[in-house]
Amino acid sequence: MVMLERLFPERGLEVIAKLEYMNPGGSMKDRPARFIIEHGIQDGMITSNTHLIESTSGNLGVAVAMVARVYGIKFTCVIDPKTTKTNVKILEQLGANVEMVQDLDDQGGYLKTRIQKVKELANKIPNSFWLNQYANQLNWQSHYYGASSEIAEELSGPIDCLVAAVSTSGSIMGCARRLRKKHPNLKVVAVDAVGSVIFGAKPASRELPGIGSSRIPEILNRDEIDEVVYVSDRESVQGCRDLLFYEGILAGGSSGSVVAAMQKLLPTLPDSYRIVTLLPDRGDRYIDSVYDDDWVSKLRD
Ligand SMILES: Cc1ncc(COP(=O)(O)O)c(C=O)c1O
Repeated sequence: MVMLERLFPERGLEVIAKLEYMNPGGSMKDRPARFIIEHGIQDGMITSNTHLIESTSGNLGVAVAMVARVYGIKFTCVIDPKTTKTNVKILEQLGANVEMVQDLDDQGGYLKTRIQKVKELANKIPNSFWLNQYANQLNWQSHYYGASSEIAEELSGPIDCLVAAVSTSGSIMGCARRLRKKHPNLKVVAVDAVGSVIFGAKPASRELPGIGSSRIPEILNRDEIDEVVYVSDRESVQGCRDLLFYEGILAGGSSGSVVAAMQKLLPTLPDSYRIVTLLPDRGDRYIDSVYDDDWVSKLRD
């Protein structure tokens, strides 16, 4: 955990970031990948004959491929054309089968097409097991027993607010539930991408992976979220660049989203306030996007 005191030097404000990108696969998705697979192994649902299937455009795929490698389990990862070349290579090097869908869904994204592909594969492949991150309760539980327990145990004193980027909502649900056990008055702020439909906004095209969704996740309980802050791709990019400039932290796109969201919240905050946030992944895999001026210049306003 690091205090972002250069980026947020305001008196009375403390912003504490848990660097979830320090996980071995490079992102916070190592948590659900390991938790779901090890649970499956413990209760006999997953054996060495199992063939794991998941739809993911990046981090969860890498994390599942890594855990599947360790346990010697087959894995097919359903991806789309937005998956970066680097991620495809990492998946392949880790031994995953990669299935690329091509068709856009009715929301202008690929999620629904990917899910359709997963269902097709699940019917075709013997002993298949779909991790189903959007509906699997073990997703949020992995963050409940993982990052947020570590935060709750290591941080003494109050926590006023949790700010987290959402996609499946597993991390915000798990962290909110765990932190509220210790800090019942915790305010929970979800950071969503402009163009994501999670909280009922109109769908639109989005370029950054990791944050936002073109469907509402089954594991989301809207009542546990106090506020939603929307950030555009451009604002997320600027947040990433600020994080790098002021803190020397090279993080992924959604880390920039939470930074941008906190910058938006600044004028509304009380004089003394302590925020906890998660930086979900590293920036290395975004060198050709978020950290590439040409790529950024082509983003829509
Ligand atoms: C980089 C990044 N940020 C944020 C998220 C959102 O996390 P969650 O799916 O737990 O809502 C993800 C999920 O894939 C991610 O990969």
